[in-house]
Amino acid sequence: MTERLPNIAVLGATGVVGREILNILEENDVKYNSIKFLASSRSAGSKIEFKNENYTVIETNDDVFDDIDICLASAGGETSKRYAPIAAKKNCVFIDNSSAFRMEKDVPLVIIGVNDEDLKSHKGIISNPNCSTSQLMLPLKVLNDKYKLKRLIVSTYQAVSGAGLKAINELTDNTKTNLVGMPYEPSAFKYEIAFNVIPQIDSFCENGYTKEEMKVTNETRKILHLSDDVKISCTAVRVPVYIGHSEAVSAEFENKISAHEARELLKSAWGVELRDEVSTYTYPTPKDAAGKNPVYVGRIRQSIAFDSDKGLDFFCVADNLRIGAALNTVRIAQKVIEMGLY
Ligand SMILES: NC(=O)c1ccc[n+]([C@@H]2O[C@H](COP(=O)([O-])OP(=O)(O)OC[C@H]3O[C@@H](n4cnc5c(N)ncnc54)[C@H](OP(=O)(O)O)[C@@H]3O)[C@@H](O)[C@H]2O)c1
Repeated sequence: MTERLPNIAVLGATGVVGREILNILEENDVKYNSIKFLASSRSAGSKIEFKNENYTVIETNDDVFDDIDICLASAGGETSKRYAPIAAKKNCVFIDNSSAFRMEKDVPLVIIGVNDEDLKSHKGIISNPNCSTSQLMLPLKVLNDKYKLKRLIVSTYQAVSGAGLKAINELTDNTKTNLVGMPYEPSAFKYEIAFNVIPQIDSFCENGYTKEEMKVTNETRKILHLSDDVKISCTAVRVPVYIGHSEAVSAEFENKISAHEARELLKSAWGVELRDEVSTYTYPTPKDAAGKNPVYVGRIRQSIAFDSDKGLDFFCVADNLRIGAALNTVRIAQKVIEMGLY
């Protein structure tokens, strides 16, 4: 058990997720011995205000990890591939937001509250799941524990912030130009995102699914320790929303389930908040979820697409920058500290 407080680094501190990590480190009052903010040469030397103090952003290189115990990284897959093994070799626990190591056998893929125990097997690198997978895990875990998942079909409606700062700015610029009838040439997306939806997130795989869709399939299986017999399919769609991913979920279970039972179970599920009363038009929307920590669940109903009362449909919404990225990253760091795993 480590007793001293850790030296922490935030890699990608100037990015969309990095900035949210700073907010949550402060909100959650994470205790540390020292903290450093890392980025590329582009932002090196710029200032970051954190807890009313000014810090200078440091350019990332191999040596910065010498005295770091825990690095919270959100600087893209290539940066993680370059630095995570170096950090791990220097006994720094590298908590990675990119997809670079998620499916590696020796790398735990963890949603706090779902599979915390997997952290114990880490060998220096811990992966944070994809944002669409992350928000699904908290409601699905309790349902799977009791009713045993058999089949899962997910359709996502994903906010532009999931694609970084450039995509956020593109939604604003694209909307402005559309409103005055000017043409717009998209660059963050393949098509215009303003007043549109785009059924492609990430590149296409040979099987016709996108990488984003296969991340939901493969990561869900790894986090919930599901066998290959559980069939999972996802369609991932980008929508013109700044913050908050939504998901329409259809699940079939081994055991009979009713909407009432599911509601009762989800009412007390950790990290989940029910917004489910159609008589008062109560259901979650991304605007409600932005800036908040829970995964909101509503529109729970017994699915009429599956036989024998074994299917459930629901809608879930969460802040993709929080539970989908920064919040779970900080929670992993807190758990690593609490469990003395650094
Ligand atoms: N946005 C989301 O909802 C979300 C969710 C889950 C996971 N992620 C993952 O998190 C990562 C960051 O996403 P983001 O949306 O925050 O992107 P972003 O806004 O573009 O920020 C990227 C950050 O990485 C830094 N960076 C880039 N190249 C670097 C390098 N070679 N060395 C050191 N730092 C470097 C940038 O620093 P400079 O300022 O110097 O350019 C910046 O701080 C990605 O891997 C993404 O897949 C994002």
